[in-house]
Amino acid sequence: MENVAETASTNADLKALSLSGSAPEGFWLRAAQQTGGVGRRGRKWESPQGNLYCSTVIDIRPSDPPPSSLSFVAGLAVHAAIRAALPDVPMLLKWPNDVLVSDSKICGILLERVKDQVVVGIGVNVAVAPEVEGRSVTSLAAEGAEIDAAGFLDKLSREFEACVTEWRNAGLAPILEKWQSLAHPVGMAVTTSDHGGEKITGEFAGLQADGALRLRKADGTLIEIRAGDISIG
Ligand code: BTN
Repeated sequence: MENVAETASTNADLKALSLSGSAPEGFWLRAAQQTGGVGRRGRKWESPQGNLYCSTVIDIRPSDPPPSSLSFVAGLAVHAAIRAALPDVPMLLKWPNDVLVSDSKICGILLERVKDQVVVGIGVNVAVAPEVEGRSVTSLAAEGAEIDAAGFLDKLSREFEACVTEWRNAGLAPILEKWQSLAHPVGMAVTTSDHGGEKITGEFAGLQADGALRLRKADGTLIEIRAGDISIG
């Protein structure tokens, strides 16, 4: 574990370390703030002091489930760590790797593949909730938790390690089962958009064995979504 006061992006730092062959699995980097935090789909991740910005790396072994399914592992670990800090708030996992607290975004997870490793970057709104376009946002502090970023990472890293071990040893099925039990229910209204930006609406019809989202359109057609964002409700 390494803590730094400031960096551009902990994901960028770990990608560079990984490329140079010096990022051992289990290593975590935390920055107290980021000057160039990166979100999914090239978006910017606002990274002021007080929140958690951290990244770790996972080796991809031939027998591992698909690397992209680490999204679910990270989501479950964040969920468990938040649940420990906030035992009573309403929480919901949203495909593929969002964690909603009181129906609001509280974290961001970014997976980036570098050769035979995956960099897993996690940002959690611990103290403040920067605006995210089109989303309602919250923080652990706003929900009543008394924990700082370092204390939260301590719990999160242990939950993450336990979840990776299960993912490797027991496979993806039990991870997806646990994920589904904490996520939006089958039948819930879901909206996404296709490659051309056209809106697709339907209902959530569960996950494929590899974690792809199944959406049933009003005419009964089932489609599989492997990348992108959804909105629910
Ligand atoms: C999202 O768009 O929801 C994902 C945001 C991921 C942000 C984290 S903060 C730590 C790590 N470093 C980055 O630059 N991004 C990730």
